[in-house]
Amino acid sequence: MAPVTSIASNVHQRLTDALAAALPETVGDPLLRRSDRADFQANGILALAKKVKGNPRELATKVTDALDAAGLLANVEVSGPGFLNITVTDKAIIETLAARAADGDRLGVPLKENPGVTVIDYAQPNVAKEMHVGHLRSAVIGDALRGMLDFTGEKTIGRHHIGDWGTQFGMLIQYLIEHPGELAPAEEVDGEQAMSSLNRVYKASRTVFDADEDFKERARKRVVALQSGDKETLDLWQRFVDESKVYFYSVFEKLDMEIRDDEIVGESAYNDGMPETARLLEESGVAVRSEGALVVFFDDIKGKDDQPVPLIVQKADGGFGYAASDLTAIRNRVQDLHANSLLYVVDVRQSLHFKMVFETARRAGWLSDEVTAHNMGYGTVLGADGKPFKTREGETVRLQDLLDEAVQRAAEVVREKAKDLTEDEIQEQATKVGIGAVKYADLSTSPSRDYKFDLDQMVSLNGDTSVYLQYAYARIQSILRKAEGASPVAHAELELAPAERALGLHLDGFGELVTEATAEYAPHKLAAYLYQLASLYTTFYDQCPVIKPRPAQEVMENRLFLCDLTARTLHQGMALLGIRTPERL
Ligand code: ARG
Repeated sequence: MAPVTSIASNVHQRLTDALAAALPETVGDPLLRRSDRADFQANGILALAKKVKGNPRELATKVTDALDAAGLLANVEVSGPGFLNITVTDKAIIETLAARAADGDRLGVPLKENPGVTVIDYAQPNVAKEMHVGHLRSAVIGDALRGMLDFTGEKTIGRHHIGDWGTQFGMLIQYLIEHPGELAPAEEVDGEQAMSSLNRVYKASRTVFDADEDFKERARKRVVALQSGDKETLDLWQRFVDESKVYFYSVFEKLDMEIRDDEIVGESAYNDGMPETARLLEESGVAVRSEGALVVFFDDIKGKDDQPVPLIVQKADGGFGYAASDLTAIRNRVQDLHANSLLYVVDVRQSLHFKMVFETARRAGWLSDEVTAHNMGYGTVLGADGKPFKTREGETVRLQDLLDEAVQRAAEVVREKAKDLTEDEIQEQATKVGIGAVKYADLSTSPSRDYKFDLDQMVSLNGDTSVYLQYAYARIQSILRKAEGASPVAHAELELAPAERALGLHLDGFGELVTEATAEYAPHKLAAYLYQLASLYTTFYDQCPVIKPRPAQEVMENRLFLCDLTARTLHQGMALLGIRTPERL
């Protein structure tokens, strides 16, 4: 239907107009904030008075006199040295929320005026290798950022830059040539079988590689054959990729995440463009030959002994590596996909790599002022002991096992609370609760920080968890079902209780929050908003009876309306983060 202007921006506009009337010569920001004392506080007048060498309290009074209160403001008070405390009318709150409620899933949130194209590089596991907890973060954060960007109207294109190239394929392919039939056909296996088949081949080939010099030499020749596009070699390489995809898809499905095949564009996809990338860099002088290799130097990037650390575009033996594929990918993403923003959701330990790649691309002119490139470098997942997450045997934890355990733990929680759920329903909800818990724990921490993978905490019903939010949602659904003879209706003429106003104003701020969190690539801000929403709802529910004791009909309808809008906002916000909200728990 139609986007809705929030109360906060309406108040902001009125204040800006009043400021302009009071101080025609100066433009100033009223610096409006939500406040505990009133609904809003404007702190900007102090600085402005200082600027024009006036008395802040006098200016504040002048602004108050010039303020147009009609239909919006209930009370404006000058306080302290020159703050304004502003209270809006109950009517304005309910009317604004009613307009949001009439706007379907968008809840009145406007689309960006000038949407661009963001290519987002996330969920990039490696072929023939197990996915571990590090791959979790890229997938979860990337998927959430994408949901948020899409909701604001940005066009997003996903790129899963999987590790599907490199010298290890010489070893794997050579082994398969010498032991045909060891890799099960991709069409015949499920994800679990695919991975164990790959693991078997990987371990067996590694053993031969380490023990047998002749095999090592044949494997090396196989790398050359692969790079020169030998048909038989490429066909076998493709089998490893296909087998791995079966496995990847099974994990992404477990993660309740949609991954599109046409967006799986791995390192190898840029092979054809890499010689050109090298040529352009060398011709423009951005890259230079050094001991046979083609490299790029940076003034401010130094390693041990103050020696410059170069980015290697092409090795002395002519081979291309990780950097060349990323540089070629940038050319593709900017020139062919017309991206305005490049976003990489990659472990912070690769931040130096990206710094050098971006700087090189800028020097080469592939990145300009019109195109931003950002590495959303995320921190490490730690065990409950605060050390990098490992099994008791000191091995990296398989992502699948982790997810399975989370679902199992969630089932216990759901079963304990369940009143009228069948065992099938318990299992079904447990996947939503368990996977949601894993995602939320990740997303509610600022991406750049490390976080502890602590299942006990994650599936807890109390505190800042998705389980708490999901129960708040399910409880509202149950209230709406139980409300006999009344349905959600906004009644703008009613006087609101403080808990209703607090909830209402928070609901009204959803759009601005999403815009801000998206612009800052900060899903944790959305998580914090939702947590606060559920907390405000809990207070509202404690203080304002909805069905028991039954209030007057209109009050009941209006409260049901607040319940319903809270549920819809929770649902939408969680959906943006990639988390389900079951109707019954
Ligand atoms: N596959 C890589 C890894 O597991 C991550 C790829 C990140 N994306 C990129 N464009 N380099 O470390």
